[in-house]
Parts: sequence; C-alpha cells; structure tokens
Amino acid sequence: MKKLLFVITLLLAINFAGYAQLPKETPEQKAERLKWWTDARFGMFIHWGLYASPARHEWVKKYERMTNEEYEKYFEIFDPDLFDPHQWAKEAKNAGMKYAVITAKHHEGFCLFDSKYTDYKATNTPAGRDLLKEWVEAFRAEGLKVGFYYSLLDWHHPDYTIDRNHPQSVQTDEEYEKLNEGRDMDVYRQYIKDQVRELLTNYGKIDIIWLDYSFPSGKHGKGRDDWDSENLLKMVRELQPGIIVNDRLDLLDEEGGWDFMTPEQYKVSKWPERDGKRVPWETCQTFSGSWGYYRDEMTWKSTRQLLELLIESVSKGGNLLLNVGPTARGTFDYRATERLEAIGEWMKYNSPSIYNCTEAPDDFQKPDNCLLTYNPETNRLYVHLLVYPLKWFTLKGYEGRVKYARFLHDGSEIKFGKPRHNVTYQESKGKDDVILILPVVKPNVEIPVIELYLN
Ligand code: GLC
Repeated sequence: MKKLLFVITLLLAINFAGYAQLPKETPEQKAERLKWWTDARFGMFIHWGLYASPARHEWVKKYERMTNEEYEKYFEIFDPDLFDPHQWAKEAKNAGMKYAVITAKHHEGFCLFDSKYTDYKATNTPAGRDLLKEWVEAFRAEGLKVGFYYSLLDWHHPDYTIDRNHPQSVQTDEEYEKLNEGRDMDVYRQYIKDQVRELLTNYGKIDIIWLDYSFPSGKHGKGRDDWDSENLLKMVRELQPGIIVNDRLDLLDEEGGWDFMTPEQYKVSKWPERDGKRVPWETCQTFSGSWGYYRDEMTWKSTRQLLELLIESVSKGGNLLLNVGPTARGTFDYRATERLEAIGEWMKYNSPSIYNCTEAPDDFQKPDNCLLTYNPETNRLYVHLLVYPLKWFTLKGYEGRVKYARFLHDGSEIKFGKPRHNVTYQESKGKDDVILILPVVKPNVEIPVIELYLN
C-alpha cells in the first residue's frame, strides 16, 4: 500500500512538474528524417522586419536603446510596395538553394504574420496583409522547402521581462526588479506557445524551425525555464512531426532537444562533434556584417569567398544558410542579387559536388590548395581546385582507386599522365600516386572541380 502511494505521488509530481517527454528516435531514424536537408546542403536565410527601415542592423532597437514609442514610427510606415516573394524565391532557386528560412518574428517582436495574439503585425501596418503567407506560397511554388525563424526574445511584448539583452537593460539587480514589476513571464511563455502553434498550424507543412535564442549564463539572461523549452519543443514535434529544429532552446543536453548545430558567422575547423560524435550542422552567414538590411555596412564577402564557404562546409559534412536582408521596399540589395547570380552560375555546372555530398573518406588525402567532397551514393570524389595547378596534378595514394577523371563543369576527360621529366632530371613518383594532366589554361569557372569516378 505504502509502495503504491509512493508511486502515485511520484507520478503526480512528475506530471505537475510538467516534464515533457521528447520523442525518442534512433540515430538512423534521425538521419532519415534529416536526409532531405543534409542532401540539400544550401539554403537561404531571410531577416526581414521593421528594422529594414532604419537600415542599421536588426539589433538597432537595442543598440540605440529605443523605447517602444520611439520604434513605433517604423511600424507606422512599414509598406514594402516592391515585395515580390516570387522574385525572391526565383533568386534563391537560381542560386542553387533548396530551402529557405524567414524571420516570422525577430527580437523586435514584430510579426510578419497575422497572429490572433498581437496587434503588432504586418496586417496592421500600411502593408495591410499577412506577408508570411505570401512568402510561404511563393517559395513552395518554386519547389523550395520552407522554414520559420521565431525569436524567443521579444523587445515589444509588455510581459517579457527586461534582461541584459533588452533595449531597456539596466545595471543593478534592484533596477531590474523595479523595472520588471508587473511583467509576467507566464503570460509571455503562453504567448510563445500560442504563436508557434499558429505558425505550425496555419501555413501547411513547415520543414524547419529556428527558435532563437538562449543566453542563460551570467546574470539577467534567459534559458530553458524562461521559454519552457521542453514543452515548447514537444508541442512543435507534435504539430509537425518531421520538422527539423535548431539548437538554441538551451536543450543541448536533452535527448531529442535539438537536431543540428548552428555555428554562426565562422568557418569550423573540422566537422563539429558532441560527446565524441559527429553531429548534423549548418553554418549561418551574412553577405555583409548584419542580418537585417544595413545600408552603410560595406564588408560584403566576395562570390569567391562565399563559394569557398559553401564548398568547405560540405567538405566537413555541413550546410550553409546564407542570409539576405531585404530592404524596406521589399527587394534584395543589388549586391546580394549579384552574388546570388554568380553563385548560381557556378552551381549550374558544379552542384553535383555539393548536393548529396559530404566529407571525403579519411583515406583520401587532400591535395594542397584543394577541398574534397564526396558523394557516397555514386561513389564519386570531387576535387575543388582553389589554386589552379600548372598541368601536372598529383593525387597521392590514389593509385588503383580512380577509374576515370573529368572536369565537372563540361564533362571533359582529364587524362592520366606520367611524371615530369627532361633530359637530365626525372621526377620520381610515389608508386601509389596518380598524376592528372590538366590543360594549361584554367577553365572559365571560378573554382574548377575535378570529378573522380572511384573503383
Ligand atoms: C543571433 C542574433 C540575431 C540573428 C541570429 C542568426 O541570434 O541575435 O540577430 O538573427 O543570430 O543566427
């Protein structure tokens, strides 16, 4: 009897504590669920909101410590008259991107979608409509998978407590306490759930969700308890069982608490691991130094740098999510369009070295100034020539492993050759090496790719 009582109390306690059981799956099941995404390798991030008008970073409200009243003018004039999501989708698709993730709500709290739970939404601006809906339809129509970014932070909601990242952040504990009197995170937590439920109910199948972000360390931060991360994630998985979720809910130690890691704005030095195991990952990167449209930001990466970033990500088993910050009129900046087109020109011929590809098996040595990718299904190895070699190109240790070699962009054969020599000097060749004889003139491709058919 005592034992039974204990069990009942325990069960009740667990229930009341509200611990959510996240769905469990085997590594194989997870790999299968993520397969379309790991095959796709390349997606578009879109940061678009009221901050497109000040055009000086999506954190402008925080950086300039604006109040809601001061920020209100951007709401009143938000009218992207040139917004054409079909054009955006075409640009993404032509660049070779296979999916896109857009900010349904960013930290400023403004919603691009028609939410029942707030007035702070596109519907109530001069735009006068649900812009997210148009976006989803246009991107899907181009065959792209669609994802939403939803900010856990909210600098507009009256119940969101002021923390160190908030525009109205202060110095002392007393000041925080005073400022937060009357703010009720319970209400805000419910708001997150209500809105995420809307996003995952009213727009059909959603392929990815970014819940961004947690900052639990130190004082006046926020993390899993503030968002009720476990229950939120549980709801997400119930509403959209196949959905792919990022890693910023502060649930890294929880089984099923995240699907992929998100190294932001840097190139990883090797395939990221957790507990000694390689994990799915995606680096998110801007064209220039800001996510939202920033008129005077000039540190634009070149097409060449962006291509290297893409290839290098795949060569370490990861994805690239490349961000566009559309303008307040609703168009892509001309520099973004230029680069997307140039990337598309390369992808048109070389995408087989990207899609369905991953890190090359360890026993293939990487030649100098090259990046390797590998397609395990076709058993082809791709050698990306970052510096174009002069004619003789040695693949150390590849002897007996290569059936055929060609340039990927035009399918032209690359012949196997013998070591260089002249009358007095003969270069020796390792017995396991393969020598390819390349044309002297670099093909008219930003980064030429050699495709090796392996035995
Ligand atoms: C950070 C920033 C945010 C941006 C995001 C993209 O979380 O706060 O502005 O949306 O990174 O990964």
